[in-house]
Amino acid sequence: MTQSHMQNILVLDFGSQTTQLIARRVREEQVYCEIHPFNIDIKEIKAMAPRGIILSGGPSSVYDRDAPKISTELFDLGIPVLGICYGMQLTTMLLGGIVEKSDRREYGHARLIIDDPDKIFYGLAEKEVGHQVWMSHGDRVEKLAPGFKIIAHSESCPVAAMAHESRPIYGVQFHPEVAHTEIGMDVLDNFLFRVCSCTPDWNMSSFVSSSIEAIREKVGNGRVICALSGGVDSTVTALLINRAIGSRLTCIFVNNGLLRKNEPEVVLAFLKQFGLNVVFVDAEERFLSKLHGISDPEKKRKIIGQEFIKVFEEEASRIGQVDFLAQGTLYPDVIESVSFKGPSATIKSHHNVGGLPDVMKLELIEPLRELFKDEVRKVAEELGMPHELVNRHPFPGPGLAIRILGEITRERLDILREADALVLEEMKTSNWYWKVWQAFAVLLPIRTVGVMGDERTYDHVVAIRVVDSLDAMTADWSKLPYDLLGRMSNRIINEVKGVNRVCYDISSKPPATIEWE
Ligand code: XMP
Repeated sequence: MTQSHMQNILVLDFGSQTTQLIARRVREEQVYCEIHPFNIDIKEIKAMAPRGIILSGGPSSVYDRDAPKISTELFDLGIPVLGICYGMQLTTMLLGGIVEKSDRREYGHARLIIDDPDKIFYGLAEKEVGHQVWMSHGDRVEKLAPGFKIIAHSESCPVAAMAHESRPIYGVQFHPEVAHTEIGMDVLDNFLFRVCSCTPDWNMSSFVSSSIEAIREKVGNGRVICALSGGVDSTVTALLINRAIGSRLTCIFVNNGLLRKNEPEVVLAFLKQFGLNVVFVDAEERFLSKLHGISDPEKKRKIIGQEFIKVFEEEASRIGQVDFLAQGTLYPDVIESVSFKGPSATIKSHHNVGGLPDVMKLELIEPLRELFKDEVRKVAEELGMPHELVNRHPFPGPGLAIRILGEITRERLDILREADALVLEEMKTSNWYWKVWQAFAVLLPIRTVGVMGDERTYDHVVAIRVVDSLDAMTADWSKLPYDLLGRMSNRIINEVKGVNRVCYDISSKPPATIEWE
């Protein structure tokens, strides 16, 4: 934690799927917050001196043999604690209460009746019908630990919230971090500002200035290189470093021949406009010849990854002495590598510039490693990136290679590029682009019969994939209006030579994935 984030909240992760959400909610209230595994050393907590500690929920039962636990010392630090779900049950058990092991889960909406408008319920009007909250738990608190009182109940949960009589220790059985809990943000706000006395000073403009300072300090007189993909993360990384050290940052942008239509031109024009020092490497030929005859998706990924490292290394060696490699690592990647091995620690296998840090033996500089994706977007806006670029859809590192099923040829790349550009154009004109997670075209490895004029055709098939998602871990196909789908199909068949059929992919993830390969 850097010195600039003194007003912080520490979230201890017990493996809940909503741990990240807790942290995001806290940051939305402009309070800096970090997630750490539940078994972090008490000494480290003391050193961080957080304003408050939130214990997350988790899939375990407190009486399980391997149940994640914390030392009771945590409650003696004088730092306010809020236990959520498992966090509340653990607090109860550790401080001498009883948790009832249940074989029935309470899941979904419940009505919370506030019995005592204590600090965390401050300002919440007592309603006879109760407040809608969201529950997801098996076990529940049966007997409070000494010194605690009940401050809310629900029909099936006598202790839906508790507070210590004299110490700043609270517990809620419901999940204030999820949107279904109407009063969730009020409860969190009360904890942050009334109990912990935090000041809302975490915002992206202060992040930008403190980050620039930190980069200057770290880099000194050194030189930095950065691989730019055209995506938001690497672009924001480069813009921040550029602001800090100017031309001592060199960005390398590689055209691997697998980019969308006009992508190299658009990205280069933007980067130049911001005065970045960019080396453009047109390596299309190299990549395509290495991919010649390859159909297996994993082989494609490997070849592209290896070739990228080679191209990057060659270019880097031309630059001369370099000390740092900049990467757009985000906070979720950091949490995934340190967090408690629960559902919140699912590791993604995709990496845009996989392998670079190991090979390059350069010191890493990762200015975005404290940020969530929505915060990166705010920083991007803060730095003057246009809305279109800030909010563009994710694009996979191996590019169109994994959207061309089967062999990659120039002809097939051109067909896909044209079809994809039409999909994106229609999505943008109809404003649907901004409402979905990703939209793209896929070229299938088959031909089908069609008829054009009086002629029989035997041509390619394009699939359109448009999905809604929050984090790409799960996704559902977007329910686009028929007339939009119809327009895309007509335009692709009429305007892209070699395509006579268009399909819309209506699979969800799981069991399908977002990409086709
Ligand atoms: P899947 O297809 O696994 O995709 O549902 C989830 C998200 O990851 C992106 N993706 C990749 N990104 N390299 C990347 O950089 C890859 O090899 C890769 N494969 C999938 C995909 O576009 C989606 O956003």
